[in-house]
Amino acid sequence: MAVKFYLPENQVPLEMHKVRVVQKLSLHPVEERKNLMQEAGNNTFLLHNKDIYMDMLTDSGVNAMSDLQTAAMMQADDAYAGSESFYRFARAVKDVFGCDYVLPAHQGRACENILSEAFVKPDKVTLMNFHFTTTKAHITRVGGRVIELVKPEGVIPQSTVPFKGDIDLEKLKETIEELGPENVGFVRIEAGTNLIGGQPVSLENMLAVSDICHHYKVLSVLDASLLQDNIYFMKKREAQCKYMETKEIYHLLADKMDIIYFSARKLGFARGGAIITHNKKLHDTMMEYVPLYEGFLTYGGIDVRSIEAMTQGLYESLDMEYLSQGPEFIEYLVNELSAYGVPMITPPGGLGAHLDAQAFVPDMPHNQYPAAAVGAALYIAGGIRGMERGTLSEQREPDGTERYAEMELQRLAIPRRVFTLSQVKYCADRVKWLWDNRQLIGGLEWVMEPPVLRFFYGRLKQIGHWQEELVSKFRQDFGDSL
Ligand SMILES: Cc1ncc(COP(=O)(O)O)c(C=O)c1O
Repeated sequence: MAVKFYLPENQVPLEMHKVRVVQKLSLHPVEERKNLMQEAGNNTFLLHNKDIYMDMLTDSGVNAMSDLQTAAMMQADDAYAGSESFYRFARAVKDVFGCDYVLPAHQGRACENILSEAFVKPDKVTLMNFHFTTTKAHITRVGGRVIELVKPEGVIPQSTVPFKGDIDLEKLKETIEELGPENVGFVRIEAGTNLIGGQPVSLENMLAVSDICHHYKVLSVLDASLLQDNIYFMKKREAQCKYMETKEIYHLLADKMDIIYFSARKLGFARGGAIITHNKKLHDTMMEYVPLYEGFLTYGGIDVRSIEAMTQGLYESLDMEYLSQGPEFIEYLVNELSAYGVPMITPPGGLGAHLDAQAFVPDMPHNQYPAAAVGAALYIAGGIRGMERGTLSEQREPDGTERYAEMELQRLAIPRRVFTLSQVKYCADRVKWLWDNRQLIGGLEWVMEPPVLRFFYGRLKQIGHWQEELVSKFRQDFGDSL
């Protein structure tokens, strides 16, 4: 909280930027929202953006760009090979992380594809605090296996533990010893652990993981896609980071990790991705996959204009005034909803506010997809689109049985520099209404279930007619309001 209000009751997060380009939004009547949700197969990914009032699906590629980013895009140097835009980006990577070697890739999962191809072999195990959907899909696609080693408190929904994304260090050592270091593809630390509610990892834990990896001569990899929020939390919640410059933290991490990769759709408010390292040998091992899957080494499948936006975005990712906006809005929303009694993942993390859907609809079994059902209900209730992060986002086991998620979450992402506080307040109000009417929410069943990453485009239908009942209750309570 950099700016204090005179009257404490007026205190809200204050934006240190102003909006200069706007996009018109529409909010359809509730009956239409119900029809649109059903036409989208109860999958929020399949809604059209024009039909959404608040798009809280993700922060990926939808953060607002700054004036300096859009200006930088004008100087893009279009060239298949040797573009000056790439060299400007490489210099920014050197400034921000201190790394000499950069491989561009079109987004985060493209980096994961390259890492999996280069370092995962059939039966190799990748250890991590927690999996991310695309990471696991790439690792298992090449025959590898994932073991998660987040500390047990990481998956307890309501908590005061400041760094719920931390790896259990003892378990990490034991697991490497049991498997044998030669059978570990790499150890991956995910900053701002996405699937457990955007929960941060402490600097202390990251550095200790890297020491363990060096001791056993196992590769350490940092997924820095959500590092911006994570650095905000390090500075707010970790004594040793309070007076460190953000750049010092980026440099320290890059010095200690063998490889860092990121989705620039998140880190740097842009589009694109990159793998960076200090180690020439590792760079050379991964390099051959870039022209094969992405494009030539100086564009990596990214439009050169976006490379310029990434470059400026990397510098902005050092600025605490920009870094704090997302987490402070998230904290505001989580606190409002918690005060209403809505079960939220706490402490507030990065990326978005996360509803604990298991506690929202406690009688609904995992195989009726409670988090997706709450998401469909929320779109009907308020034109708000969140994302299911629960059993539906899991992959089935190789024998076809369901793998029930450890947490059933409905994520309400807060893209950076996009929403106003009155919109966040509207969201809290509609969630509160839904919470008061939660007994109306029913389950979902498959109509079409894709075999891979099913949450992206699978289609489901309501079990029974609960959505029609929700609409009539809305009309009863809100009259002719949208
Ligand atoms: C932690 C993490 N890693 C990797 C990715 C994949 O990045 P992308 O969506 O750019 O492919 C994401 C995307 O949400 C993420 O949150």
